[in-house]
Amino acid sequence: MDKLIIEGGVKLKGEVTVSGAKNAVLPILAATLLTDEPCVIKGVPNLRDTHSMLKILRPLGKIAEFDKGRVSVTAGKAPNYIAEYKLVSTMRASFCVLGPLLGKLKKAKVSLPGGCVIGVRPVDLHLKGIRALGADISIDSGYVIAKTNKLHGAYIYLGGVYGSSVLATDNVMMAAVLAGGKTIIESAACEPEVVDLAEFLIKMGAKIKGHGTPVIEIEGVKHLHGAVHSIIPDRIEAGTLILASLITGGDVLIKNVQYRHLGALIDKLDEAGAHLERVGAALRVKGNKKLRSVNITTLPYPGFPTDMQAQMMSLMSVTGGISVITEKIYPDRFMHVAELNRMGAHIQREGPHAIVEGIKSLSGAPVMASDLRASAGLVLAGLAARGATSISRIYHLERGYEFIEKKLINLGAKVWREKE
Ligand code: EPZ
Repeated sequence: MDKLIIEGGVKLKGEVTVSGAKNAVLPILAATLLTDEPCVIKGVPNLRDTHSMLKILRPLGKIAEFDKGRVSVTAGKAPNYIAEYKLVSTMRASFCVLGPLLGKLKKAKVSLPGGCVIGVRPVDLHLKGIRALGADISIDSGYVIAKTNKLHGAYIYLGGVYGSSVLATDNVMMAAVLAGGKTIIESAACEPEVVDLAEFLIKMGAKIKGHGTPVIEIEGVKHLHGAVHSIIPDRIEAGTLILASLITGGDVLIKNVQYRHLGALIDKLDEAGAHLERVGAALRVKGNKKLRSVNITTLPYPGFPTDMQAQMMSLMSVTGGISVITEKIYPDRFMHVAELNRMGAHIQREGPHAIVEGIKSLSGAPVMASDLRASAGLVLAGLAARGATSISRIYHLERGYEFIEKKLINLGAKVWREKE
């Protein structure tokens, strides 16, 4: 396994382009299971997770090829309805093949995804929605087995104890597009990645309204055809790059940004006194001002994204004052706290809260990545710290950030890879 070494203290300067959104790509690739016709997806980031999803599609009967950001998916041998544990367990997002398999083949056998370090990650809302559409569901030997003679439209309330669910909304939407009749999903997730999936389904011939709002209406159709689609920019990568410029006191032009997908983050950074300037479809971020600590509470979109919590904690750990960070989506998503404290941060965990007392600067240290966004937070901390930071288990980082080292090096960062 590799580790990433970062010599901190360099002010990032220059231009960087945001890649396609991982969390849009994954359900959109799953949606290709809803047709036997060819699909082409453009702007696909070259990520570990992208290739994991392609590996899931192939045993399900697809020929799926990735070539420089372009994925083509065509029908291969006879479709198969079983998604194996050994593949699903490598990436929980692959659970979103359940809806399209059931929609297209009227049966599906998908391994239950495990939990992960950020939380238990239940799938009760996925199963509630699929059952409401008329599927018989059983759990056997770690698999969800779903079958139906015919899916029918339904009114489905999909809100859970933590609010809406992104992938449950995706799964139910993909099962409903070929169901007979009208489906209404109440308390649907509003994330831009859900909207991008809906837009792809509409290009395939689906009838969907209300995507991006808490009420999505779907009129089932008989058949979906192939489509060509370009993925939206990754708002979490964009947010991470914004914080990289701020935490190093840099001056970075971030290109390919959907400004309105970053509302909650930009609002918080305005409150902290950061200087962000829109330059067309790009964002110029200058980290030359002393920032104020702000309090963060993560919420479903359009609230502050949980996937930016660790990164914001790193920025607050070197910002004067006290910042209270409350995690309302994954109350245990604090694996990065101990690692940041190893770098000299003053962070105290209190249940779903982390109290961050900002200090002048962090000191580089050997730290360990635990999940995708925690590792992003550690990279930001390393960029700002005095001395060298080595981050082990960086395969977590490679799951969601395309060419992150190259992008940071192009901005002047002293970053390199070593064998563990
Ligand atoms: C998506 O995961 C993202 N992954 C996650 O990003 C992101 O953190 C999460 O949404 C929240 O925004 C992808 O899109 C591939 P949820 P998802 O269902 O859909 C609870 C990253 O770093 N819940 O919206 O699995 C759940 O426990 C990843 O890119 C239920 O209770 O998350 C959580 O507390 C990490 N029952 C809350 O809902 C269910 O059936 C939101 O989870 C499903 C979820």
